[in-house]
Amino acid sequence: MNPKDYLEVLEWRYACKKFDPSASIDPSVMDALEESLRLAPSSIGLQPWYFVVVADQELKKSLRGIAMNQSQVEDCSRFVVMCALRDPSAEDVERYLARVEEMRAPSAEKMEASRKFYSGVLSSRTPEERAAWAENQVYLALGFLLSAAALMKVDSCAIGSLDGPKCDVLLGLDKTPYRTVLGVALGYRSPEDTYAAEAKVRFLRDDVLETR
Ligand SMILES: Cc1cc2nc3c(=O)[nH]c(=O)nc-3n(C[C@H](O)[C@H](O)[C@H](O)COP(=O)(O)O)c2cc1C
Repeated sequence: MNPKDYLEVLEWRYACKKFDPSASIDPSVMDALEESLRLAPSSIGLQPWYFVVVADQELKKSLRGIAMNQSQVEDCSRFVVMCALRDPSAEDVERYLARVEEMRAPSAEKMEASRKFYSGVLSSRTPEERAAWAENQVYLALGFLLSAAALMKVDSCAIGSLDGPKCDVLLGLDKTPYRTVLGVALGYRSPEDTYAAEAKVRFLRDDVLETR
């Protein structure tokens, strides 16, 4: 992709306020969007996240009720609930290392060194710091998803006002190691969404970036 086309995509993207409820995302496109989440990078590769893709209309309606009644949650084609590990633990390290073993077959010494390294990273943090660290990784996956969506001309809106604890109960996450961080509505803009034509509000480049 050339830089000009990429910048055009970024200009085209906006936080969609009104979705066309009749427009659905093609399964192959949705599959690629889901892969953008799975393939997103994370600190030390631990992937402390879980994603619930909501397609069911009734469930989307219920989620709208705990997201400040924002219409995007109900009218979008898919609503992704993005979750983080409440407290990344030694068990999560083992799960990750089992996958490393499966994919890369490292030597026993290398595995032991990794185990020490990962355990050290987790134990050097308080539970609150580990929770915040896991949440930060979810925001990184969010960036990947929003970017992938724009590249495939799918509209999106991050929904930060989703009530996490209520969403956990609604989706049964309260009985799991994961908790809701935020949601993302994905679909196609309604022609009536006037926000699509609004100018982007961004600081000037010199105010936010310098090259040394
Ligand atoms: C973490 C996060 C949470 C957000 N939550 C909401 C939300 O609950 N409702 C909404 O309409 N927009 C939400 N937004 C969209 C932002 O308001 C929007 O991205 C910002 O104003 C910049 O506008 P633009 O994305 O259209 O360029 C959220 C964005 C982010 C990154």
